[in-house]
This record gives sequence, structure tokens and C-alpha cells, in this order.
Amino acid sequence: MLVRPGAQEPKDILPSPVTELATAKINLALHVTGQRADGYHLLDSIVTFADIGDRLHFSASGEDVFSLSGRFSETLATEAGSNLVIRARDGLRSLLAAAGFETPPVAIHLEKNLPVASGIGGGSADAAATLRGLLRFWQAELPPADLARLALSLGADVPMCLQGKPLIARGIGDDLTPLPDLPRLALVLGNPLCSVSTPQVFARLASKQNMPLPPLENGDWIRILPTLRNDLEEPARELAPQIGELSVLLDGEGSLLTRMSGSGATCFGVFASRAEADRAAARLQALKPAWYFQATTTVSGA
Ligand code: C5P
Repeated sequence: MLVRPGAQEPKDILPSPVTELATAKINLALHVTGQRADGYHLLDSIVTFADIGDRLHFSASGEDVFSLSGRFSETLATEAGSNLVIRARDGLRSLLAAAGFETPPVAIHLEKNLPVASGIGGGSADAAATLRGLLRFWQAELPPADLARLALSLGADVPMCLQGKPLIARGIGDDLTPLPDLPRLALVLGNPLCSVSTPQVFARLASKQNMPLPPLENGDWIRILPTLRNDLEEPARELAPQIGELSVLLDGEGSLLTRMSGSGATCFGVFASRAEADRAAARLQALKPAWYFQATTTVSGA
């Protein structure tokens, strides 16, 4: 464990408030290549992140508090143990306390802007942002390997959300290789607001042994991405037929490439420009007022 010099000296000044964005994770491709003995699936995935997401705010408080706001706050469990923000806070606190850091009570506010259980990271991104935000708030640090282990214990997608940059994820999603040359993409995210269960989608997979990603060293993404797949799309469509309808709508708006992200039901369309993505999102929202649509630009890998 790494112990910062002076970490045990009491601090007279209250920690300053900290804000973190929990950005939406997008699987541009997701190939399922096998299954481990413990049931977890082996993946080959190209992942990037949007410039929109949930917002977490951390501030000094007499006791630990967790509050919620935002469009999707109603659907989120706040019970300790089930909420990933609270589990991330508690897991980090016990590691930091063992390393000699002070971890005073904290008020955490989560503005839940992303649909819940929707294949774009949601809870995993919130957990990763909690780890990043609390390390800043408590002015503490952990050896990267300890932080990565804690992240993985919270969920298979939490380590990639901790990176927040374009990458290839292998293993169960925890073996990460940065993709610095992946370009920024103008996307429309869409969700019919039916949640699909990740374990149920995996359970319906016809084949667990599919082709891995091809070699990607030449970086000709516009040519490569359409040749890749999301192996979870077919089983997710069986559970939620609206995913098919959503994909047809995105194609109809001129999407250059339409795919589902993660285990769904969120789909994305890649557009030629941000202006085109904005126009498509507005038209789709008018067509389906009860569904979720959001234009976004993905982050740079550089
Ligand atoms: O790790 P996380 O809680 O995000 O995963 C949710 C569920 O998705 C797991 O319990 C497992 O059923 C399934 N899963 C899987 N293989 C992965 C990731 C998730 O089978 N690589």
C-alpha cells in the first residue's frame, strides 16, 4: 500500500467540493469469444466514450449522504449494497483507511441523466466517477493495481469506465489497451426505454465462441468498423424487439453505421457531422417522444 507522507495529520480545512462527469460508454464492436468456468464471458470490444453522461457532486458533510436528481433518478435503487456509487464509496474508503488516509463523511449527489440498465455503462460509469471523484475529494491516492482490482470487484465494465478513453477491452472486459488513434465520432444515441437484463442477454447467446477482432494496427476505422459486430445484438432483439425498430429509424436518418451498445437496449448511429447528428436526434425525438435520443461527440483518444 502507498501511504502519503502526512496523511494521518488531521485536516482543519473541510475538503473542497468536487464534480465528476460519468460519461456514457459505447461499445463500437463487441465480439464474444468464449466463456470462463465461472460463467463470465470473454470479450473483444472496441470501446469509446461520449461527451455526455451522469454528473456526480461530492461535498463536505457531517455524515455520509446520497441524493439523486435527473430524468432517470426514479428508476435507480438507493439501498446500500445495491447502488454502485455507495459500494464504490465504501470499498474505496476501506482501502484508503487501511493505507492511513482520512476519509471524512461526504455528501454525494448523482444527477442521473443516462437511462438505467441500458448498455452504455450507466452504473459502471457512476462507480468509476465515484472512485475518481473521491480520490480527488479526499486528496488520496492508491497504487494503480489496487484501484484496478477494486474497480473490477464493482463490475466488469468499471475498469474501462475508469479510463474513460477509447480502448480495446479483452478478457471479461478488464484487459485494456488504449486506442489513441480512434477518431472522434458524431453519434446519436437512442433507447426505447425498455431495460434488458445483461445476464439474460448473455444466456440467450447462440454461440459463445465467435471470431475475435481482426488485427487493428492500420487504424482505417471507417472501413473496419462496419465489418465488426455486436454479438449480443441478436439475443437482445429477441428480448426487446423495439431494438430492431430503433435501428431502422436510425438508418432512415442517414446513419453511416448503426449498432447496439453493450447488452442493449441503447443503439447508436454514426453521422457524418455533429450538425447532422443534432438534426437526426431532434427528428427522432419528435417521432418517438417517449424514447430517449441524444446527440453526442465521442472523446478523443489522444
Ligand atoms: O460485471 P457486471 O455486474 O457488469 O455484469 C453483469 C452480468 O453480466 C454478470 O453477472 C454476468 O452474468 C454478465 N457478464 C458476463 N460476461 C462479462 C460481463 C458480464 O457474462 N464479461
